[in-house]
Amino acid sequence: MLPSAASTGKPDRIFAAWADVGYDSDKTGKYPQLEGAGRMEKGKFHEVIRTRRSVRRYRDAPVPRHVLERLLEAAIWAPSAHNDQPWYFAVVTKPDVKRRLLEAMGSRWRADLLADGLSPERVEHELQRSARRLLAAPVWVLFFLDTGYVAGHDDPRRRRAEYASMVQSVAAAIQNFLLAAHVEGLGACWRVAPLFCPDEVCRALDLPPNYQAQALITLGYPAEKPTSTRKPLDELVKWL
Ligand SMILES: Cc1cc2nc3c(=O)[nH]c(=O)nc-3n(C[C@H](O)[C@H](O)[C@H](O)COP(=O)(O)O)c2cc1C
Repeated sequence: MLPSAASTGKPDRIFAAWADVGYDSDKTGKYPQLEGAGRMEKGKFHEVIRTRRSVRRYRDAPVPRHVLERLLEAAIWAPSAHNDQPWYFAVVTKPDVKRRLLEAMGSRWRADLLADGLSPERVEHELQRSARRLLAAPVWVLFFLDTGYVAGHDDPRRRRAEYASMVQSVAAAIQNFLLAAHVEGLGACWRVAPLFCPDEVCRALDLPPNYQAQALITLGYPAEKPTSTRKPLDELVKWL
């Protein structure tokens, strides 16, 4: 039997969100995985996956809060190792918070680029170019890994594997989020910048240090239609 909101104790909000996207059209209030997946046209599903692109230019239009919540709901339905759900999110729309975060990340990036031997002028140029592009995105969503979920093995090999499984879980949530954004007609781009300065990100957003930033997703209504290619599948598979 499929669990209902009452039997799971989970908030009705989750079911309402699914109903919004048309997965629970007969309003049974049930978890939709089996029934919903069956209802969705298979070709449509693959079209959604294949037509998602990394969108880096956005229209100057806000994204409604209920749409952002729907994307985050999609994120939290990703699979996760041990079902630990080791993710945490920060949704940033306020310009002063964006600037604070940019400054924090920029100071680390500046030091890294100077250490790489780039001239100070070139470094400032790169930082400003990147800041301009990022600030033009109406919404930033940061995905964190709560390192408190990484099992405390003494054996470094097992600890490394546990850590990787948590990183993979957050990445699965990010992909759900990107696909849901695409379905909503939004454009998004996965950015690695925070990975290089997790401590600076936590300090700038006043979050505890166990929240390790994995990615910054820029989001908004698209102002470009990028294309992309893929390597052929037959180069990438060994059938055994
Ligand atoms: C882990 C990861 C990190 C990425 N980091 C960046 C980034 O820092 N900046 C950026 O512009 N795009 C970034 N991307 C987007 C990729 O460049 C993009 O997915 C790739 O070029 C394929 O294009 P498509 O997403 O449009 O198919 C990242 C993607 C992934 C999965």
